[in-house]
Amino acid sequence: MEKIVLAYSGGLDTSCVVTYLKDKGFDVVCFSANLGSEFEPADLKQRALQTGASKIYVKDLREEFANKYILIALKANSIYEDKYVLSTALGRPLIAKYLVDIAKKEGAKYVGHGCSAKGNDQVRIDVTVKLLNPKLHIVAPLREWELTSRESEIEYAKQKKIPIQATKEKIYSIDKNIWGVSIEAGILEDLNNEPKEDAYIFTKSLKEAPDKPQYVEIDFVVGVPVKINGKQKPFLEIIEELNTLGGRHAVGRTDLIEDRTVGIKSREVYEAPAAWILIKAHQELESLVLDKDTLSFKKCIELKYSQLIYQGLWFSPLKLSLDAFIEKTQSKVTGKITLKLYKGNIVVSKRNSSNALYKKELATYGVDDKFDRTDAKGFINIFSMPYIK
Ligand code: ARG
Repeated sequence: MEKIVLAYSGGLDTSCVVTYLKDKGFDVVCFSANLGSEFEPADLKQRALQTGASKIYVKDLREEFANKYILIALKANSIYEDKYVLSTALGRPLIAKYLVDIAKKEGAKYVGHGCSAKGNDQVRIDVTVKLLNPKLHIVAPLREWELTSRESEIEYAKQKKIPIQATKEKIYSIDKNIWGVSIEAGILEDLNNEPKEDAYIFTKSLKEAPDKPQYVEIDFVVGVPVKINGKQKPFLEIIEELNTLGGRHAVGRTDLIEDRTVGIKSREVYEAPAAWILIKAHQELESLVLDKDTLSFKKCIELKYSQLIYQGLWFSPLKLSLDAFIEKTQSKVTGKITLKLYKGNIVVSKRNSSNALYKKELATYGVDDKFDRTDAKGFINIFSMPYIK
């Protein structure tokens, strides 16, 4: 019997996949990671074994996810196509890395997942597995089997006595972790439909958001958020607190027509309160402490970096080299940013850093001006020289 390590969520797809692989003669070892979704380890264990797995690894990876994956994405202000903070995309290389590690430990030659043939997640997991261990074989039953629709999967589950909670009318496909929620399918496939309020998990609607703004203070040390409202906290806790705070003020919803790696345009709705608040704060601090060349060059790098994350190229040589650039740029990114959360908006209120390159005595139009006005004319003469015939 060949052993396979399967990325397992306990949902409809992966539940069917366990049974399917068992029927194909595999010894199925499941692996479930908690990245911040609703997660019941005991429940997962029971379901996996009941559907045919011989063993299951259940790991709470929220801290590793925050500190090793989200943090550098934040330092790079990572946003895909202006609206997606890459929450789902950031989790996949981590899951794939564990698949590879567990396969090694278990002496398995196969790894598997329940990603569909149209999505980005199959690309992210497969590419990561290939980069980390090219000898492993990857099995993705959803790319091959005859169960092409949700309805046929539910029929299969019934026939095989797989316990499922899903109903045929399930409206959305949702992927949730601490960095955000991705919501797609169902009524969102029609571009004339606004998402209904019940699609959202983290955020209140604009209407329900309080009429009073809330201020939030974030302290960074070399690019790392270390305090919220003056209290020292681990990064993971800062994220969780900001999801609650931002969610209450309807912050961080986006609706995007997105270019998938496989070439399809899709419509996805996202909510990511903590991610947007932290990225905004981080950008504000960078604009205060970084010189203009580093800032503008970093913008170009950020665009590429976000695309690499989106495409699942987390462990690629270019991504790893850009990590070094991003880290290097953070040495001065220490200071405090105060933001105002109000009715879906994130508004900067105060900026403070001992590394600030802003000099009031140069910027001012008041009496304590230290700028030497006589320098300006000569500067402009030379600055315009290349353009004058
Ligand atoms: N489109 C997003 C991405 O490629 C999310 C994918 C998963 N979304 C979902 N609703 N199941 O990263």
